[in-house]
Amino acid sequence: MHTVTITLDTTESHKSLSISPAETEVALRGTIRVPGDKSISHRSLMLGALAKGTTHIEGLLLGEDPFSTAACLRAMGAEISPLNSDHVEVIGIGLGALGEPIDVLDMGNSGTSMRLMLGILASHADRFFTVTGDASLRTRPMSRVIQPLEQMGAQIFSRKGGYAPLAVCGRSLKPMHYQSPIASAQVKSCILLAGLMADGATTVTEPAVSRDHSERMLKAFGANITVDPESCSATIHGPAQLTGQSVVVPGDISSAAFWLVAGAIAPGSDLLIENVGINPTRTGILDALLEMEADITLLNERTVAGEPVADLRVRHSCLKACTIEGAVIPRLIDEIPVLAVAAAFAEGTTVIRDAKELRVKESDRIAVMASQLTSMGALIAELPDGMEITGGKKLTGTNLDSFTDHRIAMSLAIAALAARGKTTIHRAEAAAVSYPDFVPTLQSLLS
Ligand code: S3P
Repeated sequence: MHTVTITLDTTESHKSLSISPAETEVALRGTIRVPGDKSISHRSLMLGALAKGTTHIEGLLLGEDPFSTAACLRAMGAEISPLNSDHVEVIGIGLGALGEPIDVLDMGNSGTSMRLMLGILASHADRFFTVTGDASLRTRPMSRVIQPLEQMGAQIFSRKGGYAPLAVCGRSLKPMHYQSPIASAQVKSCILLAGLMADGATTVTEPAVSRDHSERMLKAFGANITVDPESCSATIHGPAQLTGQSVVVPGDISSAAFWLVAGAIAPGSDLLIENVGINPTRTGILDALLEMEADITLLNERTVAGEPVADLRVRHSCLKACTIEGAVIPRLIDEIPVLAVAAAFAEGTTVIRDAKELRVKESDRIAVMASQLTSMGALIAELPDGMEITGGKKLTGTNLDSFTDHRIAMSLAIAALAARGKTTIHRAEAAAVSYPDFVPTLQSLLS
């Protein structure tokens, strides 16, 4: 018998997810896999399109964000096999050879598609591109990539303040050394991709290390790229030649994070998440949960196609509060919403600082998590650059909203599992951006 009742209500455009735990305790048990890493999926499609020859991608995330990237690349001439199976083929057209699309490129909800693609488009001389996205993406700052690209000679027009829709007049770009004021893999990757065709060395230096999937994959595709971890710098020497590769996409640790927290907070839980990417630039969530005394074990550690991978076992334990700040923040930036849920079930006050980037994600994740967890009864205070969460108060189910943010929808579902009574999460369909099978996976862990 299920200890949780899960229902999905669909209106014309929105789905709400209701979760009603039974009076008895809810345990999650079983062995699962999470969908392919979103960051690696985007990059494999983009580099595949820019390379000469065929790229084979195994384990691509079949979610809305990579669909946006693929649709844009197809509109510029790349051939990509249907995104309905585990194995996707990209027939590249070669660097600098993307065609001028006959319509606006729609990046949907995907900041990664827009920011990385701007580096590619800006460097395609003599072509004109227009770029837009959904209501959320049109409020997200693009000046962080427009400004450095302009320093390389790019011509980009935006709405006032640097917001999409955008227009790009492609040009030949000059190399440069960019000191990024923020640790952002999207900014870094955008500049490195723009540097692919610039004649000379293009360097990006960041204040702290951000995810390095672009650097790893550019190297595998044959680019001359060097990395200096000490100064948090990456340099690409253009012009490059990219050759199609076989990419194996590991499971997304950002998706695994929901189950790591669910397993840690739900008494009696014991679950195994197989094949999760544990690239050190992404494992801040493991560091934070281990510091909170979560019972997590890494098994079967191995390297698959240049990325470290492991199986993660999590069992329930009594969590303790911790402080999350500084250089770890870029290494767990997408997991902070679900870490806030973990903190609500931990003993003591957890402080999260240096994370003001959360205010410009798919939603203002500080404001949204604070308001939604508060309405469940949690003790949580907003800080300008983070939050303070005092755990231990029993949460109560109520009506919640995802604010169309995939990670908020799923984080709230995990909170609902450990709450008293029925929680309804409105606009829960947002989960499909990165985790289309989130609800069936949850059901499988409860049966
Ligand atoms: C991503 C980088 C991160 C992350 C986003 C994906 C990427 O953004 O939040 O979900 O694939 O490069 P920033 O680099 O802007 O922090």
